[in-house]
Amino acid sequence: MSTYQIDTSTSRAHPTPAPMRRLTVPALRNAKGKDPIVVLTAYTIRMAQILDPHCDMLLVGDSLGQVLYGLDSSIPVSLDMMIAHGAAVVRGSYHSLVVIDMPFGSYEESPQQAFRSAARILKETGAAAVKLEGGQAMAETIAFLTARGVPVVGHIGLTPQSVNVLGGYAARGRSQEEYSRLIDDARAVAGAGAFAVVVEGVVEPLAIEITKAIDIPTIGIGGSAQCDGQVLVIDDMLGMFDRVPRFVKKYEQLAERIDAAVAEYAAEVRTRAFPAVEQTYQPKG
Ligand code: KIV
Repeated sequence: MSTYQIDTSTSRAHPTPAPMRRLTVPALRNAKGKDPIVVLTAYTIRMAQILDPHCDMLLVGDSLGQVLYGLDSSIPVSLDMMIAHGAAVVRGSYHSLVVIDMPFGSYEESPQQAFRSAARILKETGAAAVKLEGGQAMAETIAFLTARGVPVVGHIGLTPQSVNVLGGYAARGRSQEEYSRLIDDARAVAGAGAFAVVVEGVVEPLAIEITKAIDIPTIGIGGSAQCDGQVLVIDDMLGMFDRVPRFVKKYEQLAERIDAAVAEYAAEVRTRAFPAVEQTYQPKG
């Protein structure tokens, strides 16, 4: 059920929202151990409008680099790109907490650099929180941001911004040493004040152990159904791409449906079946 109406005869961009309160950071933080938290990525206003009634959190992920811009990885994504898409998602949502990824290079140098970038994100988008990748190495930065009014979601395990260090997108936590380090990462992120943490691409027992070990919600992606919530990249779960990671379930085959619709349109244009009389303006009287 939609929480807004859109008058497409006058405007495609300005929905009329039903008055409602957006989920807050403390409400999300307190969802630990309760009903699973529903998260999807969103990058555009129209998708945000459609997802918003179903989700608790909308994540403007830097996966938009690959999904929308055809980049090889998320490394080239800029702060300006995240802010433009983040603002659109905030405009298109009224219920979900909107969290925006801090892109590679915008926070790793120092807590001060991270604060400057996060402040721009919050000021220029209206979003409530940021997400950043990294475990123990980012604890000081997470504490610095949180103490200065920037709510932070952590991201550990398979961290795509570290693809050049990790050497690929394989699941993490297969060796005992890495398994233990990732538990320490989760504890460090939670201890530093993050209000939730994304746990991506780890062996399932590790996702379960991390979920039990920390008192903030874990949002799994390639983790376990026992995480406190789940997130997927929206285009992956809608079937916009042929190849997706193992952890993706395709709930739709949207690329095939778009292909069929566009083929029908192209055929009708070529046979002059479109536009028909219903789609044309006739003189009055
Ligand atoms: O960038 C992104 O979309 C993400 C999610 C996959 C967790 O970080």
